[in-house]
Amino acid sequence: ADKISTQTISLLKGERAVVAVTAYDTAMARYADEAGVDLLLVGDSVGTTQLGFDTTVPVTLEMMLHHTAAVARANPGALLVADVPFAVAHDEFTKLLDACRRLMQEAGAEAVKIEGGALIAPKIERLVQAGIPVLGHIGLLPQNFHQLGGYRKFGRSDAEKSVLVDDALALEKAGCFAVICEMIDGTVAGTIAGELKIPLIGIGSGPHCDGQILVCNDLLGMTAGYVPSFVRQYAQLGEEARKAFANYAEDVRNRKFPS
Ligand code: KIV
Ligand code: NA
Repeated sequence: ADKISTQTISLLKGERAVVAVTAYDTAMARYADEAGVDLLLVGDSVGTTQLGFDTTVPVTLEMMLHHTAAVARANPGALLVADVPFAVAHDEFTKLLDACRRLMQEAGAEAVKIEGGALIAPKIERLVQAGIPVLGHIGLLPQNFHQLGGYRKFGRSDAEKSVLVDDALALEKAGCFAVICEMIDGTVAGTIAGELKIPLIGIGSGPHCDGQILVCNDLLGMTAGYVPSFVRQYAQLGEEARKAFANYAEDVRNRKFPS
């Protein structure tokens, strides 16, 4: 398959749905890429899915560099996007620029994702001018967990709806090649998708977006426990792994392996 660029993703708008998924290591990136996904996100969800943290807040730039480099070693045809971790986007611009530079130059990301709307759009515009492609992220911003006091749906009130529309338009104007919307009311997500010229990629935001993204552990059934209700599980790899380990343990104890 051809290498997918940020341009490719932008041009999928109105053509076909964008298929995106998270990946955190070389093996999983290979599986997803071989299946033909368009975009691999090294999400800061690596903190909760792989590293045992309760939220994405403890995830550092060093962790993102480590996991992004692992995914890059899969040499994916899919576009490789790395999350900018907690609070870095709110640091002074030169530090944000340096973090993005490291994700691209040291780790091999081809674009970065930054949480936030109109407030962060001026910095995103400067990054885009500096040659750094940015994927926007509106709605539920998990990095704000300690402010939100939990995860919930966004855009149910008229006030929240108009903030979301303004956020999305500000990100488009700043030069984002696409925008992710997380946990937005489905009707509102459809309205925003209709207003944007760039793809709106949804998660927990209903069927009216220009594409979808899921956390790979959720869709593969490899979670420690809680799975959001909007997720569709396409496999039960956690259960498969448990069974495989149990069979191995039994064979070793009964001296059936090695034979
Ligand atoms: O970190 C992540 O996995 C994400 C997706 C949920 C969009 O930001
Ligand atoms: Na994230």
